[in-house]
Amino acid sequence: MTDLNQLRTELLAAVEGASGLDALEALRVSALGKKGRVTELMKGLGAMGAEERRAAGQAMNALRDAVAGAIDARKASLEGAALDAKLAAERIDVTLPPRPEAEGRIHPISQTIDEVVAIFGEMGFSIAEGPDIEDDFHNFTALNIPPEHPARQMHDTFYFPEKPDGGRLLLRTHTSPVQVRTMEGVKPPIRIIVPGRTFRSDSDMTHTPMFHQVEGLVIDEHSHMGHLKGCLIEFCRTYFEVPDVPVRFRASHFPFTEPSAEMDIGCSRAGGELKIGAGDDWLEILGCGMVHPRVLQNCGIDPDKYQGFAFGMGIERIAMLKYGIPDLRTFFDADLRWLRHYGFVPLETPSLVGGLSP
Ligand code: PHE
Repeated sequence: MTDLNQLRTELLAAVEGASGLDALEALRVSALGKKGRVTELMKGLGAMGAEERRAAGQAMNALRDAVAGAIDARKASLEGAALDAKLAAERIDVTLPPRPEAEGRIHPISQTIDEVVAIFGEMGFSIAEGPDIEDDFHNFTALNIPPEHPARQMHDTFYFPEKPDGGRLLLRTHTSPVQVRTMEGVKPPIRIIVPGRTFRSDSDMTHTPMFHQVEGLVIDEHSHMGHLKGCLIEFCRTYFEVPDVPVRFRASHFPFTEPSAEMDIGCSRAGGELKIGAGDDWLEILGCGMVHPRVLQNCGIDPDKYQGFAFGMGIERIAMLKYGIPDLRTFFDADLRWLRHYGFVPLETPSLVGGLSP
C-alpha cells in the first residue's frame, strides 16, 4: 500500500510538473500505457488470492483513476494555456484605423502620356526627347518653314533676346523639332514617339501658353499612308477604349508633310454630353502626313531611298476627351481638389495587358 501511495504521489507530482502536452502524453504512456507502471502492477492481481485481490484491486483502480483524472485535468489546463498563447500572438487591434489611401495623385497629363507610350510602345515605337529651348533651324527651317513663312506667325512663338550673332533661341512651339534631331542623329529605320512640353504665346478657354504634345515619326524604305492610317486608327481605338470608334482623315496642310491630313473621330453631343464613338459629329484630334522630302533632305536623309510618316497631337486635348475634363486651364491651376478628383492612383501603371485606364 505504501508503495502505491508513493507511486501515486510521484505520478501526481510528475503530472503537475509536465511542461507541455508532449511530455504529458509520454508520462501517460509510461504510467497507464500497455507497459506502464500502473498497468504492470495491475497485471500482478491475477496471482493474488481473492481477498487480497479485492483490496489491492480497489486501491489500484483508485490509483489509476486518480492518475488518469490528474492527466486529463493537466491536459485541459495545458491546452487552455496553448490556446491563450496562440490568441495572444494573433491578436489584432480592431480599433486601429484602416490603412490610409495612398496619398497623392498622378496628374492626368502624366497618365495620358503613360497611356500613349504604352500603346505605341506595344507597336514597337521607342521614346525620344528633345530640349524645350530650341533654335530656329530645328523648330522651323529644317521643317520646311523658311523665315518668311506664314506658319511662323501662326505659332505665336516665345523668343529669347537676340544673340550677338543675330540668332534667337525660342521655346519650341511643337514637338516636331525632335523629328529633326532624331533624323540628324540616327539612320533609318526610325520609329519614335516624342512626348513633351510645347509653348505658344496664347491664352484663352482653349489655349494655355504651355501645353503638351506627342509626336510620332516613322522613317524607313516603304512605310506609306496606309501604314499611317492603320497605326493611328489602332491608336485611337485602343486609347479611347471604344473598339469601333469611327475615324476620318481630312486633307490638310503642314509645311513638313506632304500629303497632310487631320484625323477626326466620331462622337455624339446628344443632350449636351460629349460621347466618343458612333454619332453624327466629328472631333479633330491630330495632324499627320507623309514626311516632306525636303525635311528628309534637311536632316541628311536621302528622300529617294527613305520615306515615312509623322503625326502630332495635343495631350491635354485627348485627356479632356477621354476623361471628361471640361476646362483646359484647370490642368495648370495646381488645385489639389481638382487633382484629387481627376488624378489617378499611383502604382496603377497603364499597360495593354493590365488595363490602360482604371
Ligand atoms: N507639329 C504639328 C502641330 O504642332 C502637328 C503635326 C506633327 C502635324 C507631325 C503633322 C505631322 O500642329
